[in-house]
Amino acid sequence: MTHSPSNDHIDNVLHETRVIQPPAGFVANAKVTREEYDRRYRQSLDDPDTFWGEVAGELTWMKPWEQVLDWQEPHVRWFVGGQTNLAYNALDRQVERGLGDKRAFIWEGEDGEVRTFTYSALLSQVKRAANAMLALGVESGDRVTLYLPLIPEAAIAMLACARIGAVHSVVFGGFSVSALSDRINDCQSKLLVTADAGLRRGGLVNLKANADDAAKKSPGLEHMLVVDRAGSNPPMKEGRDVWWFEALAAASDEHEAVALDSEHPLFVLYTSGSTGKPKGVLHTTGGYMVSTYLTMETVFDLKDDDVFWCTADVGWVTGHSYSVYGPLLNGATVMLYEGAPNHPDWGRFWDIVQKHKVTILYTAPTAIRALMRQGDEIPGKYDLSSLRLLGSVGEPINPEAWMWYARVIGGDRCPVIDTWWQTETGSIMLTTLPGAHPAKPGSAGLPMYGIDPAIMTRDGQELGPDEGGLLVIKRPWPSMLRTVYGDDERYKKSYWGEIPHVYFAGDGARRDADGYITVMGRVDDVLNVSGHRLGTMEIESALVAHPSVAEAAVVGRPDDIKGESVVAFVLPQGGQTVDPAALRAYVTREIGALARPDAIYIADALPKTRSGKIMRRFLRQIAAGQAIQGDTSTLEDPAVLDRLAEMSAV
Ligand code: WTA
Repeated sequence: MTHSPSNDHIDNVLHETRVIQPPAGFVANAKVTREEYDRRYRQSLDDPDTFWGEVAGELTWMKPWEQVLDWQEPHVRWFVGGQTNLAYNALDRQVERGLGDKRAFIWEGEDGEVRTFTYSALLSQVKRAANAMLALGVESGDRVTLYLPLIPEAAIAMLACARIGAVHSVVFGGFSVSALSDRINDCQSKLLVTADAGLRRGGLVNLKANADDAAKKSPGLEHMLVVDRAGSNPPMKEGRDVWWFEALAAASDEHEAVALDSEHPLFVLYTSGSTGKPKGVLHTTGGYMVSTYLTMETVFDLKDDDVFWCTADVGWVTGHSYSVYGPLLNGATVMLYEGAPNHPDWGRFWDIVQKHKVTILYTAPTAIRALMRQGDEIPGKYDLSSLRLLGSVGEPINPEAWMWYARVIGGDRCPVIDTWWQTETGSIMLTTLPGAHPAKPGSAGLPMYGIDPAIMTRDGQELGPDEGGLLVIKRPWPSMLRTVYGDDERYKKSYWGEIPHVYFAGDGARRDADGYITVMGRVDDVLNVSGHRLGTMEIESALVAHPSVAEAAVVGRPDDIKGESVVAFVLPQGGQTVDPAALRAYVTREIGALARPDAIYIADALPKTRSGKIMRRFLRQIAAGQAIQGDTSTLEDPAVLDRLAEMSAV
């Protein structure tokens, strides 16, 4: 891997200078002041043992830890020797503190059905699910794959796994059969929890049919627990498949949460890297619990009566940390919504905010831009006055979308926070605190407690104010990934081996004189399409697996709504013609609709160096319709670029 940070890309960013003070009404009631942030941030770096020990001490441990942190680069253990259970802290503990009748989840289906779960009701469901999984032979440490729509059962299944020490691996319901079976096989799951179907834009997504196909390619899979979401009556395989609701009804609602070692694996979540197949990012119990608990309360200024809505699917890390674990650990009320933002129309989000009196909304720039494009009249028809705080996550937010979000959705009354983090970091790393810090639209902001970021060159030189470079983190934090499942070498190389002794995030960034960090996007071959990570390698592998394609290169192209869209350059296999529609359908089947190329160039050659490396930098310029810039002298045949530039995509 020889990617160099393209400084042209890093420096060519519009310098935004607006500074937006937090609204006075918000500041008056905010949990954290500027002074408090400064004091705690300093303590978290100067005396991490005391800082993290105090935070962890707010939660329940079955056995206290002996040591807060054991750092043997690049491996870390937090709360060493301690035993706890995340599901216990998320549920039993809340019931014991008197929150049993408080709403944990308000779920709205795409068809308008509403289901509400109090903490007591959720706990009882989770206990039953835990017993149902045990009855299917799932043991502590076993892996369980979840392939579900965004229904309460997704969270219940996650919590049930956490309760018995099984390791969940949630696979986004939009992923294909191959993507699902690859992920089942990579972590050798015994059990798959799925649903007959999910609802999406009025239609059915037949998850069970995909699950059946994936099971044919997953020899280690023993059982499927199937949630009847849509009444679509799929075939059930005798001896293998069990209906979720029947299994839960038959199971006892008595279950004592198992005391687990702080470093017991909690979940695997697959995400794209710049090389090879997706990596199974592994998180463990104690550290992940402490970080999601702390960030949820601090970053979102969480109060007892908040209704918190994170619009992410549970198939992504944002849904793990801020639809399920972080809010429940704090005893919050969480809104969950199953479907699309534009079903039955573009007012759906605002209808949900109005109906359920959502107070905190956390969504992605791609959604904000799509909603903004529909105009101000649609949100104007709804009462959004319950909202008090707005958050953004997943990709850089352009200042225009930021300002629209603050003005039209937030009524200039709600602070907007732009939170930077990753599947690997487990919890929010960079943000402003809404009552403590002014915001600079387009810039994520300051480090969370315990996070020690820097901007560096590739050879490890720290850069000064406003110099573009690579974002790194200089010391471990509790919710840091522990390894790549089954591939510790890849973990070492990708995260702690790129620049010695620091965590390499894979993003380009700069820091201004006030310490605000602006993240500018990936510096590796990872695309961010609608806030979702996709490796160019994965898409290229899918393309070349098609019989009509000899070679392929994939790059991202700036897109007004999606942030980036997928552009493919393909060389036909000798004598074959490439059918773009067939190729798009093929990529959708191999990976999922997210990866489908928006534009395909059917080329006769790709720009390669003499050593055979494809120069994607030039392909990005061509895809974006820009003139070719930069040194083309290393190319084997520079004329290839001229031919590509004259071509149109299909
Ligand atoms: C990008 C999502 C700019 C970044 C939580 C990162 C962001 C990748 C922001 C992780 C932000 C996420 N500003 N870029 N506020 N948040 N990113 O693993 O490129 O799905 O490396 O985690 O998204 O994506 P992931």
